[in-house]
Amino acid sequence: MGNKRLVVLVSGEGSNLSALLAAELGGRVELVVSDRPGVGALERARGAGVPTATVILEDCPDRATWDHALLDMVSSPEPDLVVLAGFRRILAPSLVRRFRVLNVHPSLLPAFPGNRAVEQALAWGVKLTGVSVHFVDEQVDHGPIVAQQVVAVEPGDTPATLHARIKQVEHRLLPHCVALACQGRLHVEGRRVTVLG
Ligand code: GRF
Repeated sequence: MGNKRLVVLVSGEGSNLSALLAAELGGRVELVVSDRPGVGALERARGAGVPTATVILEDCPDRATWDHALLDMVSSPEPDLVVLAGFRRILAPSLVRRFRVLNVHPSLLPAFPGNRAVEQALAWGVKLTGVSVHFVDEQVDHGPIVAQQVVAVEPGDTPATLHARIKQVEHRLLPHCVALACQGRLHVEGRRVTVLG
């Protein structure tokens, strides 16, 4: 296990979190932060003995207060890298500018950004979709792409069956990219990410 410090942000089931916790990353997950109480991801973190926190928008008087509380919470372990593993809110520019942030998205960006990417791809009738891991910038699902992998749409796929196959790919690709980041092997120039060494 390496010495990089990671914070993982979650909102849901947490299968990508589990993949990260099971992988050899060259870093340690110091804290898992959720914007929702009672989600599976928090249970998974606790089960692995990782500290957790929740920062809930509905508990804050306004969005700016929530943004500030999230920034404070994420900053507390002084992470080298922040990973969005199924986090369903847009980060404030203050957080994005302060930390390197990676996100996993269930489509081949720039196709189908935003919510319900799997449903959008099925509705469009694409034959190929997939997974993108990218750095986060101030726009939604927009930052420089680290890696992508294709998943074929099968006849008879539903959003659930397609998403299940996409998640299998996510569970390999996200830890791989996080490990590269922990090893300092991701060089970003404009929109282009090069893997060093
Ligand atoms: C993943 O498909 C991810 O790409 C998307 O949200 C889903 C999270 O799943 N952003 P899980 O919570 O990691 O199981």
